[in-house]
Amino acid sequence: MNTLTPLVRCSHEHVSLAVFASSAAASLAVAREVAGLIRQRQQEHRTVVLGLATGSTPIAFYSELVRLHREEKLSFANVVTFNLDEYYPLPPDHPQSYRHFMRTHLFDHVDIAPENVNLPSGSVPQAEIDAHCRAYEEKIRAAGGIDFQILGIGRTGHIGFNEPGSPPHSRTRLVTLDPLTRRDASGDFGGEEHTPRYALSMGVRTILEARRVVLMAWGQHKAGIVRTAMEHEVTAQVTASFLQQHENALFVLDHAAAGALTRFRTPWLIGPLEDQGLAWDERMTRRAILWLSRSRKKVILKLTDDDYNEAGLQDLLRVHGSAYEANRVGFYQLQHTITGWPGGRDPRRTQPGDAPARPLRAASAGVFPKRVLILSPHPDDDVISMGGTLCRLVEHGHEVHIAYQVSGSNAVSDESLWRALVFVRDSGLADAATTAQIAAWCAAFEATGALPPAADFKRWKGFVRRQEAIAAARVCGVSPARLHFLDLPFYDAVTVRHRRLGDKDVELMGQLLGEVRPHLIYAAGDLDDPHGTHRICLHALREALARRAQEPWFAEAELWLYRGAWAEWEVDEIDLAVPLSPQEVLRRRRAIFRHETQKDLALFAGDDRREFWQRTEDRSRRLAESYNTLGLAEYEAIEAFKRYAPDEFLRHVQL
Ligand code: F6R
Repeated sequence: MNTLTPLVRCSHEHVSLAVFASSAAASLAVAREVAGLIRQRQQEHRTVVLGLATGSTPIAFYSELVRLHREEKLSFANVVTFNLDEYYPLPPDHPQSYRHFMRTHLFDHVDIAPENVNLPSGSVPQAEIDAHCRAYEEKIRAAGGIDFQILGIGRTGHIGFNEPGSPPHSRTRLVTLDPLTRRDASGDFGGEEHTPRYALSMGVRTILEARRVVLMAWGQHKAGIVRTAMEHEVTAQVTASFLQQHENALFVLDHAAAGALTRFRTPWLIGPLEDQGLAWDERMTRRAILWLSRSRKKVILKLTDDDYNEAGLQDLLRVHGSAYEANRVGFYQLQHTITGWPGGRDPRRTQPGDAPARPLRAASAGVFPKRVLILSPHPDDDVISMGGTLCRLVEHGHEVHIAYQVSGSNAVSDESLWRALVFVRDSGLADAATTAQIAAWCAAFEATGALPPAADFKRWKGFVRRQEAIAAARVCGVSPARLHFLDLPFYDAVTVRHRRLGDKDVELMGQLLGEVRPHLIYAAGDLDDPHGTHRICLHALREALARRAQEPWFAEAELWLYRGAWAEWEVDEIDLAVPLSPQEVLRRRRAIFRHETQKDLALFAGDDRREFWQRTEDRSRRLAESYNTLGLAEYEAIEAFKRYAPDEFLRHVQL
């Protein structure tokens, strides 16, 4: 679908919706509509007024506008823009200012007249803020009002910076940022303490007065709030919900951001699946039965015909004939995800009557031991997300390789490096000149709390993390010879927002695949890390697999995606569940502890105050409890994976 044609509205949604396979395709479609409007107005010799947003969401949209300008002669001469917001206080040339953002992503690359560009000012004196905001509103009115407003949505449900509590009549004003918004922005500012507390933002009323409003959202981390905004009641607690009252508003989503909507998550609540072009396939069946078990608070095998009927699942009951049959199907599907043999069984040691290593695909199932490649975006994701499974694979005798995709240097504080430098300074290991240089750096840190700028610090911070990864892998029984530090170059872009996957990244990934020729690949399928590093790493894998698809190992390989520290798979998405014993949980904890620089002071911990080892343990324990609540065996902890055959991955996973 190349146009912004909305889907047929369903009863649960109170605002129009268009869903795309990828954020890239969606951004293109939005850009095309905006370009169409600009061109139409040009023909009419009229200006067009655009309301613009910043943040990670509209970046591809702006790139497409720039491309249209460069390659298809789209002129911005008749365009007037008003941005939604600006941090306060913040000088206009600050690298994180929205003015700077807009110049970087759009204004510096198109022929827009500087006098047609408007943003609230982050440097207006405090006493003049109210007058400045009134003048901003006046200027919008004088320009004829906003024709087309682009929006993103924050995890608080904000549009612009209209945080929870912003009333529907609000206008441009000074706002206090919600703690969650500040935490989300803290990565860009190098920590929460450097993140502004305030912003100037257009109000809800200002936004609702635009003639057309398009809200874009990408990624699973937006799915919950998108659903609330679209399906729940209109409330000032989620200001995006006010768009339900706009007659020309459209939510433009990728699959992941749309994933929690009733029509996708629990489509049986909308009507018979057949009418929606859907079928009761294996995954849908399992999802419905798990949903039913949870909503009825009963284990799967105790669900009755009445439970199915009362919850609107008559359709599923009809397919299986009775609750008894349907329950059995759901139960066994789930039970078959569980195995203590993630790499398959050693055929030489298999006894008749042993449970099969179920979820493995036939092609490589008989190979033993297997070559296993674990891809860890940052140096600690392997042990955080699948440390128990990693240890199992090693213990079972597989050839386990771990590849660390980026150096992780950005998440090492100056203090951590200072500690390493103090060791070199005091140990007498370095010569006199080096020791003197190091002593000077240490003295600077001790005086100011920051290391002075020096080119190599970033590289050395990478070494600190490398050494931590080596120590953690050692806990898991993987020798340094099987560790691969890829240091993908995309990670070293000037700012997080400038990170783009490059040819070199894909080449490095491809080389590794060619060297290891893995039977099993484990990769982070978690696209929710705050900086998008995991997403780019997965993208790198995707491109590298595409380039190597003709090699003989490819057809036999299996790809398992794990989730990072930020979220867990939904139970119905899980294809492989590896139960851990209490001892294994402790061993995994020891491995995570080796990542000392990420302990208690992790720079990019996101909006979760727990340390990584705590999140890991809570998450895997909770998953074990979920299995138990559904009526399966009670385990201490479970690590979970979703399976793709690499060719299926290439076809289905859009990044
Ligand atoms: C930005 C703005 C915000 C963002 C929202 C989503 O001008 O007003 O409402 O659109 O915070 O940010 P990202 O796109 O970074 O997830």
